[in-house]
Amino acid sequence: MDKLYSSGCEICADCICSGGASPCSTQPEKCRHGFFSSLPNNQAHVYKASSKERSITIVFTPRSIIMTFLTLSFAALLAYLSLPSKPLTTAALHDGVRKHPSLHNGVGKLPFMGYNTWNAYHCDIDEDLILTTANLMKSLGLAELGYQHMNIDDCWAEKNRSASGDLVANATRFPSGFNNLTSQIHDLGLKAGIYGDSGWFTCQLYPGSYLNEARDAEQFQNWGFDLLKYDNCAVPFDEIIELGMVGKYTRMADAIANLSETTGQPPLLFSLCQWGREQPWLWARKLGQTWRTTDDIDADWEHLASIINQNSFITWASDFYGHNDMDILEVGNGNLTFDEAKSHFTAWSLMKSPLLIGTDLTVVTNETLEVLMNPEIIAINQDHVVGTSISPFRWGINPDWTFNATHPAQYWSGESQNGTIFMLLNVLDEPADMFFNLTESPWINAGRQYSVRDLWTHTDNGTAVRNFTAEAVPAHGVVALLMKDAGPEPAGTQPPCARPEWCIDQNGTLVQ
Ligand code: GAL
Repeated sequence: MDKLYSSGCEICADCICSGGASPCSTQPEKCRHGFFSSLPNNQAHVYKASSKERSITIVFTPRSIIMTFLTLSFAALLAYLSLPSKPLTTAALHDGVRKHPSLHNGVGKLPFMGYNTWNAYHCDIDEDLILTTANLMKSLGLAELGYQHMNIDDCWAEKNRSASGDLVANATRFPSGFNNLTSQIHDLGLKAGIYGDSGWFTCQLYPGSYLNEARDAEQFQNWGFDLLKYDNCAVPFDEIIELGMVGKYTRMADAIANLSETTGQPPLLFSLCQWGREQPWLWARKLGQTWRTTDDIDADWEHLASIINQNSFITWASDFYGHNDMDILEVGNGNLTFDEAKSHFTAWSLMKSPLLIGTDLTVVTNETLEVLMNPEIIAINQDHVVGTSISPFRWGINPDWTFNATHPAQYWSGESQNGTIFMLLNVLDEPADMFFNLTESPWINAGRQYSVRDLWTHTDNGTAVRNFTAEAVPAHGVVALLMKDAGPEPAGTQPPCARPEWCIDQNGTLVQ
C-alpha cells in the first residue's frame, strides 16, 4: 500500500514537503512551490538536507568577490523571472487571508449561477435529465443571463469504487459516461459541476473522497468537470482523521491546487458544503470560492426567513472570489407565493449568494421564470465592479442585531457600480408600509437627492429627498430599489441635518 499522508505522519518521515492524501513520496514538486498544507498531528514535513556536515573555507580575492557578485545577481534574476507572472488581484490583497496561489487564479470572482439537481430531483437523476435540463437552460434563455453551471448533486456514483480504487459513474443512470456528458454540456456553452464528500461517504452513502482526495480531484477533472460541491457527511473517527473542519476541507483544497499546478489547468471551482459548521465565513475563502452557511433549505417561508436571518450577521464575508452560499434556490418549488419567491430571489442575489436553480425546468411556469430572469436583480449579483453584499441598516420590527429566525432584518442597503441598493423585506404576515430615512444607509450622502429605480416593476419612480416610503408591501414581499445621486437637495430643505445627532451651526449653535 502507498504511504498515505493520513494520521501518523511519522510514516512519511522520508517525504519531501507533501500535502493532501497523495502518496507522500510521489510529488516532490510541491516543495518548489513552497506550499505546506495543514498536517495531522500538527507535524510539519521538513525537507531533509544531507546530514553530512562539511566545513568550507572561503578565501576572498577580488576575482572571487566579482564572481560571487555576478553569480548572486544571476541567481536573483532567475528567481525573479521564475516568479508567477500573474499580478495579485485586488481580492487577494483585499482578502487579508491569502488563498493558495493555485486556487486564486481568477476562478470564481463572482457568485456562480446555474442549475443544481438536488432540490428538484434528489437522487432521481440520470444523463437524460441532465441533458434535457442543460438544453432548457439554453433554450429558455437562462444561460444567456448567466446561469452557466449544470451541477450534478449526490447519487451519481456506483456504491463501490473500481478495483483500482477509482470512483465510478453509476452505470444505470449515466451509461454513456461522464466524458460524453460533460462534452455535451460544454458544447452548449455551459460548465459542468459534480458533487463529492469530505468523509468516508456522501450524505446518501455513495463513496466519499477521504484519503482519496488527489485521485478523485484528478478523476473529476479528467471527466471534464469544472466545479466540485464538497459535502460534510460520514466524518471519520477523531483518532483517524485528527483534523478539524478546516483541515478536513484543506485536504481537498490542496488536492485541487496541486492538480492545477501539475496540469496547468484552472482549478476546479471549489464549493464547500458544510452547512455553516465552524464558521466557514472565517476561513473557507482560503480554500475555495463559496461556502454553505446554513442547514438545508426547503420550499417554505420559514426556511427562507431563517436563512436570511442567519446570513444577516455575516454579510461582510462575501466579496469577490469568496461568497456565503445560502443554498440552492427553491423558486418554483413547494408552496412559495409569488411575493415570497421574489423576496427569496432578491435576498439571495443582493447578498451575493451563488444562484442555482433547483426547480423542474420541464414544467417551469412563466411566473417562476419571471423571478429567475429578472435582469436588474441578476445584474447586482453579478456586479463585476462591486463585490460586496447588502447588509441590514435597521432590523425594523425587532431591535437592531436581534437574531430572529422568523422575523429577520427588514431594511437593507449596499453598494453597486451604479448606485445604492435598498432591499425592504416585509417579514410580517400582512401588508405593511415601510419607511426609512435615506441617510440611515451609510452609502447615501447627506444634502443630495436620489433618483429611484424599482428593480421589480422596472420603473423609474421619481426622486427621493431625505426619505422613502414603500406603501403596502405585501406579506413576505420585497421592494428592491436602485438609488442614484440626482444632485443637491432642493435649497432650504429642513431640518438642516437629516441626521440630527450633533447637528451644529458653524457658529456653534446646536440644532436639536
Ligand atoms: C446535503 C447538502 C444538500 C445535498 C445533499 C445530498 O448535505 O446540504 O445540498 O447536496 O447533502 O445528499
